[in-house]
Amino acid sequence: MLRAVAFSLVVGSAVAQQMQLATNYSGSALCVLINTDNSRVVNFTDPVFAQQQQLLYVNQVGNVIVKVDNFTSGVGNASYVRNSVQMLSKNPITPGSLVIMDAIHMPFGCAVWPAFWMNGGPNWPLHGEVDIVENVNLATTNAYSLHTEDGCMASTEVNITGNLVNTDCFNATKFDEGCKVVDTDLSYGSGFATNGGGAFAFLWNDDGMKIWFFTRSAVPSDLSSANPNPAGWGTPTAFYPSSTCDTTKFFGPQTMILEIDVCGNFAVDDWAQTCSAVAAQCTDVVPNPATFDDAYFEIKYITVFSK
Ligand SMILES: *[C@@H]1O[C@H](CO)[C@@H](O)[C@H](O)[C@H]1NC(C)=O
Ligand SMILES: *[C@@H]1O[C@H](CO)[C@@H](O)[C@H](O)[C@H]1NC(C)=O
Ligand SMILES: *[C@@H]1O[C@H](CO)[C@@H](O)[C@H](O)[C@H]1NC(C)=O
Ligand SMILES: *[C@@H]1O[C@H](CO)[C@@H](O)[C@H](O)[C@H]1NC(C)=O
Ligand SMILES: *[C@@H]1O[C@H](CO)[C@@H](O)[C@H](O)[C@H]1NC(C)=O
Ligand SMILES: *[C@@H]1O[C@H](CO)[C@@H](O)[C@H](O)[C@H]1NC(C)=O
Repeated sequence: MLRAVAFSLVVGSAVAQQMQLATNYSGSALCVLINTDNSRVVNFTDPVFAQQQQLLYVNQVGNVIVKVDNFTSGVGNASYVRNSVQMLSKNPITPGSLVIMDAIHMPFGCAVWPAFWMNGGPNWPLHGEVDIVENVNLATTNAYSLHTEDGCMASTEVNITGNLVNTDCFNATKFDEGCKVVDTDLSYGSGFATNGGGAFAFLWNDDGMKIWFFTRSAVPSDLSSANPNPAGWGTPTAFYPSSTCDTTKFFGPQTMILEIDVCGNFAVDDWAQTCSAVAAQCTDVVPNPATFDDAYFEIKYITVFSK
């Protein structure tokens, strides 16, 4: 039986200053967060179509599947576009928020560009961008980063478990690499999936912005509770302290976005790094549905807590 799809938003309490669960996106509340954009090689489909096509559904264990079409062929069809899904939160993420995503599987594969991220809106990067899950093709490590106007830096003076590879968050530095922190092989792609997935937590408060990644066996027991407490989670994977980036200045209210792009500029630009043995260029693999067999999120929940 096909069950109703939703992203249920949960509201709870946490942290030194008590936070309330605002939303629990799990099970059947998910489909309200969806966008339509059929302007490119990828077609971000509308909610009715996405559910009809089973690009968005609740699976037998109650997790939400968000996926790229891996059942239609575009071989020999020059105008083919591949259907996928982009979901946007209606309620913005503001300072004093904690966002948690627990997933069993994340999309990977040549041409595949998954992202769980936040965008402050028009005139990018005026109101900032936060990338919590992002990489492309057959990359093996997740990367966290902020993208801003000039003046927001990561700090080398704070302890993190990830590897800070660029301190400047300014979008014009290093071709918009962002202040990037690279994580381990269990944080992305097939390594993430074979290890049972894991959870990401993003905390935005007076200290700045912190992100934790937990492998499945290391997920803190309070993460899925109504009272998650980041003070007990140890050193964050990435940390952008307010001492080197005034996050209230460089970031406006953020729209939370979950999407799977196909041959976007990032996947195209990084093609040679992991996929040149598969095909000469990204668009070559789009017609072949089997390319997208791993291009899906399986999500237990996304929760948003706020003050
Ligand atoms: C794109 O998605 C829409 C649903 O949002 C669908 O009606 C349309 O047929 C799709 N376009 C193509 C070219 O498949
Ligand atoms: C080619 O692809 C387009 C877009 O995906 C689709 O609308 C059209 O029906 C396809 N044509 C054929 C002949 O399959
Ligand atoms: C970083 O960790 C080291 C070792 O645990 C500790 O001595 C140091 O005080 C920490 N630094 C900061 C800024 O928290
Ligand atoms: C940085 O953002 C500005 C303002 O939107 C834009 O003009 C510029 O092209 C961006 N630079 C890069 C490398 O993305
Ligand atoms: C959110 O929903 C998930 C899935 O039903 C559940 O495991 C989790 O405990 C819920 N979180 C809260 C804070 O209620
Ligand atoms: C699409 O991918 C899913 C998940 O990997 C797989 O179970 C399914 O068999 C694939 N569909 C087709 C038509 O190959």
